[in-house]
Amino acid sequence: MQRYAAITGWGEGLPPAVLTNDDLSTFLETSDEWITQRTGMKERRVSHVSAIDMATLASRRALACADLDPAALELIVYGSCSPDEQVPNSASGVQLALGATRAAAMDVNTACTSFLYGLSSATAMIQSGMVRNALVIGVEYISPFMDWSNRNVAVLFGDGAAAVVLQASDTPSGVIGTVLGCDAEARQTLRVRGMGCSYVKGGLTYGDTLWDFDGQAIFKRAVHGMSDACARVMQAAGVTASDIDLVVPHQANLRIIEAVAKYAGVPMERVMLTVQRYGNMSAATVPVSLVDALKEGRVQPGSLLLMPGFGGGLTFGALLVKWGERVTPRRESEAALPPATQTALEMVNAIRARQDPHGRSRDALLQTHFIDDPLAHAAP
Ligand code: ACO
Repeated sequence: MQRYAAITGWGEGLPPAVLTNDDLSTFLETSDEWITQRTGMKERRVSHVSAIDMATLASRRALACADLDPAALELIVYGSCSPDEQVPNSASGVQLALGATRAAAMDVNTACTSFLYGLSSATAMIQSGMVRNALVIGVEYISPFMDWSNRNVAVLFGDGAAAVVLQASDTPSGVIGTVLGCDAEARQTLRVRGMGCSYVKGGLTYGDTLWDFDGQAIFKRAVHGMSDACARVMQAAGVTASDIDLVVPHQANLRIIEAVAKYAGVPMERVMLTVQRYGNMSAATVPVSLVDALKEGRVQPGSLLLMPGFGGGLTFGALLVKWGERVTPRRESEAALPPATQTALEMVNAIRARQDPHGRSRDALLQTHFIDDPLAHAAP
């Protein structure tokens, strides 16, 4: 008998502090008008706690929603490109915080598509019979890594987390179609050098990151990659645009989402938009949008969802998800984050103050801290 991986729990771990476009224009040459017109973004969140803290909150809520005891959890997949540390991995931190002592714990990093890749992997592991349930997290703590002096990227991102619980089921539900890919020829169009370990006080800090973004190239390839993946996943499942009840896309830019929806043939009324309130939370964007869609009653029993995404790599993908019968939580978790003692702008200004205190130029950083091309000596 075919086995499925039903989504039985969901929850968010969003930090409360809000950074507005006007806040950004206090230290960057930008404006609410430019950011709104070019990206659709109005505000984003800045976290006062670690990525693992956000992920743990989302996980507790998702487990309560499914009414699943953490001790019964068999797999934790932590999707992110901004881990608090590289070693030990972050999924183990969530395992410890939850007391999910029997769970295997792995991190997945495909940048913004990490949740989609993680959801596909966990689904396949349940379908194969390797595990009976899984917790899949999408989380990003980008603010300490951000180059806040670079207006090309600083306005685009936000922090946040969300998680889902998967459980084995005989009823067709969960991920029923998957297309994943990678446009590696364009891997240099989106690079963040120096990202991926806890903020170090003194010495080489997170502030010493270099963001290389070719926004327009990414834009075009994102639209192409996601549209192609949507078409292929729908064709393989034998469904058309009129069968899709809701598109829950990666939210990097409102104009990218509009273009993908147009190619897919789905009207914007059937597209979930959160880019205006959270910006691009990378791996957290799709699961947070899914949880918001459930809260807003936009997911109904049996709904067919299309989830396209793209990220650094340039990885891309599209999943088809058949929702089950339940659209409300079995239980609510009482877990919460400690209150933030600073505003989002105060936190960002504190990060700016400790970033590159020597005021080194981009070229100087490149020479002293980063290799230019890690593939320079790779075989053709
Ligand atoms: N405020 C004001 N002006 C700005 C800003 C800003 N924040 N940023 C750039 N500008 C200026 C530029 O300097 C340029 O000025 P010029 O005409 O004098 O040269 C002008 O605005 C237009 O810039 P463009 O780059 O042409 O603007 P575009 O319409 O392409 O929008 C954007 C830029 C928003 C970055 C868009 O290309 C985009 O969304 N690209 C994709 C981004 C993306 O991929 N994000 C995420 C993936 S992340 C991940 O996987 C980790």
